[in-house]
Amino acid sequence: MESYSRYNIENDSRDYENFIEQNLDAIIEKYHKAEQKYRNLYDNSLDLLRTINLQGIITDCNKTYINTLGYTREETVGASIFEHVAEESLETLQDAFKTWKSNGIVRDRKIWLKKKDGQKFPTLLSATNLYDRTGNLIGSNTTIRDISEIYIAREETEQQKIKRISDIGVLSARIAHDLKNPLSVIKNSIELLKMRTTSLDDRTKKDYERIERATVRIAHQIDEVLEYVWPKPLEFSDSSLLDIFQTVISKINVQQVAIDLPRTDVNILCDASKLEIVFSNLILNAIQAMNGMGNIHIRTKNEEKTTIIEVEDTGHGIPQDLLPRIFEPLFTTRQIGTGLGLVSCKNIIEKHGGSIEIKTQMDKGTTFIINLPKIRINGLNLQK
Ligand SMILES: Nc1ncnc2c1ncn2[C@@H]1O[C@H](COP(=O)(O)OP(=O)(O)O)[C@@H](O)[C@H]1O
Ligand SMILES: [Mg+2]
Repeated sequence: MESYSRYNIENDSRDYENFIEQNLDAIIEKYHKAEQKYRNLYDNSLDLLRTINLQGIITDCNKTYINTLGYTREETVGASIFEHVAEESLETLQDAFKTWKSNGIVRDRKIWLKKKDGQKFPTLLSATNLYDRTGNLIGSNTTIRDISEIYIAREETEQQKIKRISDIGVLSARIAHDLKNPLSVIKNSIELLKMRTTSLDDRTKKDYERIERATVRIAHQIDEVLEYVWPKPLEFSDSSLLDIFQTVISKINVQQVAIDLPRTDVNILCDASKLEIVFSNLILNAIQAMNGMGNIHIRTKNEEKTTIIEVEDTGHGIPQDLLPRIFEPLFTTRQIGTGLGLVSCKNIIEKHGGSIEIKTQMDKGTTFIINLPKIRINGLNLQK
């Protein structure tokens, strides 16, 4: 509601002066009311509000800002915005400040602020331009939303998730471990049955072999799960790579696959039983990719700073779109796969300070290239 009469723009200046004189009190009152309304909105906002000049100096702020940060108004007005930011968000705030200066707007930047007592809390910061009466840019109004509660709730959910995953890990490790005993009972019993029965007919012999193959497969899957969820720490010793390859091959049903080993041996400082897991996984994957028929070449190169080991197969290759996923836990394209073989290989090689790479060509084959550095890790000389 207007409490003064409207001024007609077409009247002359005398009329204008009269108009002002007659309505001055009403105009001032309206101005004060508007100012009060704005101040109430500003002060009672649940968000932290601050007004800054072009240099990033705080020229005004609301009560929520002062109450939350724990400074007095006198300490706040005149302070730089960079005094109220936590160290880890300093760069983000500098960047937000730059963005505001060039674009005139910043929206929902996640920034950690620091209270007077040093306590930090997460916020979302948005800033818009502030102009004077003549349209010059003089600073910014910044809205800062304290998101501590959301952050804490998310942290709790995250913690619960981590706890659940680790419980599941412990549970699956326990089940896998417990399955090993009955499995070895089955394996040993088959051996005994075979020995006790002198003349086996062909069908029974084949049945026994099927049971044996199935137990080997289950044992391997259990080992893969255990290695992933319950990896034991590495134990380094001076080991022959050729010995490692031969041990692996002796435990595998190589079917109709010719495995070509390097002629010269290389001795390295490693955890031999862990590298056996790596090569057993790579060779089994290769045999599966060749449907049990083909060639595997294992090559070693003893270089000055590294030992390179290549495992090449003549299998179906890996499609380009699947390549980025094959080291992901649980990724498998096989019906009876665990999807844990390659991720364990990668973990083991990385724990040795090395890396694993792939070269692949569809319908030609795949080569896994392992690089083991001859470096010292934690004071241990990994390779001589
Ligand atoms: N030598 C290989 N040739 C072709 N594909 C391979 C080879 N090795 C691994 N892969 C692909 O990577 C996937 C993941 O392998 P891995 O982690 O060992 O799990 P799994 O053998 O249980 O499937 C396989 O399912 C397969 O698709
Ligand atoms: Mg595998």
